[in-house]
Amino acid sequence: MSIPMMKAVQVQQYGGPEQLKLVQIPRPKPLAEEVLVRIYTAGVLPYDWKYRQGQFKNFRPANFPYIPGSSFAGMIEEVGSDVTEFRNGQAVFGRSEKGTYAEYTTAPVKGLSLKPVKLTFDEAVTIPGSALPAWLTLFHTGGLMAGHKVLIHAAAGGFGMLAVQFAKWKGAHVIGTCSTNNVDFVYALGADTVIDYTSEKFEQKASDVDLVIDTVGGQTLERSWSVVKQGGTLLSIVEELSQEKAKKHKIHVIKPGLHSMPSPEKLQEIPQQIAQMMAEGQIKSVINKKFLLHEVQQAHKLSQTGHGRGRIVLHIAD
Ligand SMILES: NC(=O)c1ccc[n+]([C@@H]2O[C@H](COP(=O)([O-])OP(=O)(O)OC[C@H]3O[C@@H](n4cnc5c(N)ncnc54)[C@H](OP(=O)(O)O)[C@@H]3O)[C@@H](O)[C@H]2O)c1
Repeated sequence: MSIPMMKAVQVQQYGGPEQLKLVQIPRPKPLAEEVLVRIYTAGVLPYDWKYRQGQFKNFRPANFPYIPGSSFAGMIEEVGSDVTEFRNGQAVFGRSEKGTYAEYTTAPVKGLSLKPVKLTFDEAVTIPGSALPAWLTLFHTGGLMAGHKVLIHAAAGGFGMLAVQFAKWKGAHVIGTCSTNNVDFVYALGADTVIDYTSEKFEQKASDVDLVIDTVGGQTLERSWSVVKQGGTLLSIVEELSQEKAKKHKIHVIKPGLHSMPSPEKLQEIPQQIAQMMAEGQIKSVINKKFLLHEVQQAHKLSQTGHGRGRIVLHIAD
């Protein structure tokens, strides 16, 4: 009997986008508590090209060859022997550590969510990789509450566009930064004030902020210290922050990786809640550009520019 095969993108060694190679490999088999998913859409995250470049090799070395990507939306095609919560033919979304730039992946049922009928696969794939981290960053780590003033840098990006909408939904006053092309877009997401970082200094327009969410780092992070009010929080998901400096400014700082997590039950519920909010049109997820699996190098090149609006996805099946 012949082994079922699939198309997948593989990386054999660290390097540039040319390391992303389309190959034919055997389709994975689900373990007892896993499902086999036919992937319709995979999310392309900045993490994927940073990992490919070897930026995390000191603390998370790659096991070559590997399949990039972590978020997927698709249909269950097989369930493991111990799986009772899901069945074949259900539309789902979630994360897989086995890689998602492929026609199939396997994933544990923990962390798997049902896709509402009204939600497209492209919208659903933005939940595990962007919406869920944005939600956890704002509400669980950042402690954002109604009435707070929040400054969200890179408000037009895959992470920022969702953070802006969640913060607004919570009842916060939202300030977002982006380039000229994206100003109208960020206002349409619900921001109260949008600052064009190419022509204005955000620290001249924003002050007494309860929470800053930084996804840019460098000078943007450095200049953010002065806008946080005493007792407020500066949170970066990309760069380390000095505790000494925080004491001097009388603010709290939260550095990458120091995220507080809800209970496992809650963590299972949140993606489903976000999916419902998207299906009802309360929250929009915008796709920057769709690429086919064989166009993966172009997808990474676009993501590496660090500019754009919404999430880049790989469209793998209909
Ligand atoms: N996605 C996640 O869940 C997640 C989780 C942890 C960490 N991160 C990290 O957070 C960063 C952003 O992720 P992403 O997924 O949102 O990336 P993305 O979709 O590539 O978006 C990047 C955004 O950054 C904006 N930008 C660039 N320079 C800026 C500046 N000086 N000031 C304000 N905005 C600026 C761009 O807006 P313009 O086009 O208007 O310039 C663009 O919209 C990445 O480094 C990523 O690794 C993301």
